[in-house]
Amino acid sequence: MCGIVGYTGGQEASPLLLDGLKKLEYRGYDSAGIAVQNDGVLRMIKASGQIANLVEKTDGGAALPGFTGIGHTRWATHGAPTDTNAHPHMSNDGKFAIVHNGIIENYAALRQELTDRGFVFRSETDTEVIVHLLDMYYRGDLKAAVMHTAARLEGSYALGVLCADQPGKLCAIKMASPLILGVGVGENFFASDVTALVSHTKNVIYLEDGEFAELTPENITVYDCTGKPVSHSVSRVVWDVEAAEKGGYDHFMLKEIMEQPRALKATIEPRIRNGRIVLDDFDDAFRVCFADVRRIVITACGSAYHAGMVGRYLIESLCRVNVEVDVASELRYRDPIIDDQTLLIAVSQSGETADTIAAIKEGKNRGAKVLSIVNVVGSTIAKLSDYVIYTWAGPEIAVATTKGYTTQLAVLDLLSVWMARERGLLTGERYDELVKGILALPERTQRSIDLNPQTGYLAERYRDNTSLFFIGRNMDYAVGLEASLKLKEISYLHSEAYAAGELKHGTIALIEPGRLVVALACLDSLFDKTMSNIKEVKARGAKVMAVAREGSRRIFTEADDALFVPATDPLLTAIPEIVPLQLFAYYVAKANGCEIDKPRNLAKSVTVE
Ligand code: AGP
Repeated sequence: MCGIVGYTGGQEASPLLLDGLKKLEYRGYDSAGIAVQNDGVLRMIKASGQIANLVEKTDGGAALPGFTGIGHTRWATHGAPTDTNAHPHMSNDGKFAIVHNGIIENYAALRQELTDRGFVFRSETDTEVIVHLLDMYYRGDLKAAVMHTAARLEGSYALGVLCADQPGKLCAIKMASPLILGVGVGENFFASDVTALVSHTKNVIYLEDGEFAELTPENITVYDCTGKPVSHSVSRVVWDVEAAEKGGYDHFMLKEIMEQPRALKATIEPRIRNGRIVLDDFDDAFRVCFADVRRIVITACGSAYHAGMVGRYLIESLCRVNVEVDVASELRYRDPIIDDQTLLIAVSQSGETADTIAAIKEGKNRGAKVLSIVNVVGSTIAKLSDYVIYTWAGPEIAVATTKGYTTQLAVLDLLSVWMARERGLLTGERYDELVKGILALPERTQRSIDLNPQTGYLAERYRDNTSLFFIGRNMDYAVGLEASLKLKEISYLHSEAYAAGELKHGTIALIEPGRLVVALACLDSLFDKTMSNIKEVKARGAKVMAVAREGSRRIFTEADDALFVPATDPLLTAIPEIVPLQLFAYYVAKANGCEIDKPRNLAKSVTVE
């Protein structure tokens, strides 16, 4: 939520900041702004709406000359998305400008204190207290002012600070919000995410919570919260520039759907060696930990939670271990039964989701071991966990996750087969069959894309349905949950997913002539049951679009239309099954003229509770 970027070096800062903000726009896009230092003066320009408005207002950056600056793209929490509430925020005397991602929980008390001391507030944001604190504590020593200010703040913050008195200098401070330093030659950067850095440098420093850094064109010095310098090694980012570009596609979402075969290959293949699943470099350590595990709790939000739902079916079926799946924002509010024999599996694309972080902390406090499935290297969730399995999906820019979700499923496939073998629950033959099935998933996913050229046409046909239902049983149900979320978040159509057998217990009252029901029927063992549920809604006039196995003719005895999924082991069906539904959601949103990559009210990484 919110993206920040900073630059100091020999180039004009504004165009670089605008470019960085475009890369971070998926983090929030209701307003944006930049501030630049020039000849001892700070100047800033802000604009509500998307970054394009800011680009126009700054004449592509030409309106704000200078070699050191900061920028921000906002997802509003405190105060409406107006120009005034947009960041940067400036001190009353114009000496400081700051950008902030996070939430200052004690801002009300600080605001009162600062108002009593005569500081004038211009915005409704929690952030503005920070800039006045800096102003209050500054006596010519930026480091001291930053330390005093940070000591007063409660909450989460990634902060960028610009001071009129300190030519060429930037300050970056991190507490529970992502912040990465980019190490260049004669220039240095900071940003919320590596996507804003990779076109300039692949050398980065991951700050720890409580640390802050001073950046000049030649140097970066990192300090702990007491002001003691700390040394950090420079890491090399593996993502390349093209990964964060649209590459000829109309939208990042479509590009990311099409990238899934490659992302799955990158996630799966390095983990299968000589026909055996290997959990990266912690295979042996995790084996010892897993020997004591009596129950598994999977926790996550949104699509990652839906991946967890698939994981439950997989793990329970293969490993015979009790698995609970809990929405991360609820887990800690229900006194969960978690102890030192519990394995907590946290799933998160961004690795920064505040609710998932809180759930992990809750689990750790109760003695659980934490294994996380994360896409972003060095993210907070990765750092908090005992074991991390990275999904190698590459940067995911579209707010609606696609390759992030399917690579999470691939890791859950690998993990559950690994665990089942560990428990001695698989014959050698079944193990080999599942490993082969997992290795085939990239190809099956490509087949799923190729099999369904009719998705665009079906989207046109059903785009006017303002309310629809997804039904399915078992794994089909779990996939339906994700398909429904995909559709509603980008096309704004009301949709709900139901366990197919549950519909008749109330919700069937909403089925009326013409209502679209998407029926997922890819599991042979449950096909007849789901067909009965299809008949029930057809009898009430619903239109049915089914998702069925390639070659299934019987589906057309009831369904009006169908999408097809290639034959796969039933336990591994979720990945190829979601693909045509991702495409369906994409084409419905496109047909309805929706803002696909940046749907209203959403942000990619939800760093507030
Ligand atoms: C999915 O399309 C959403 N953008 C959202 O539900 C997302 O999956 C959720 O916020 C969790 O994010 P995470 O995977 O980064 O933790």
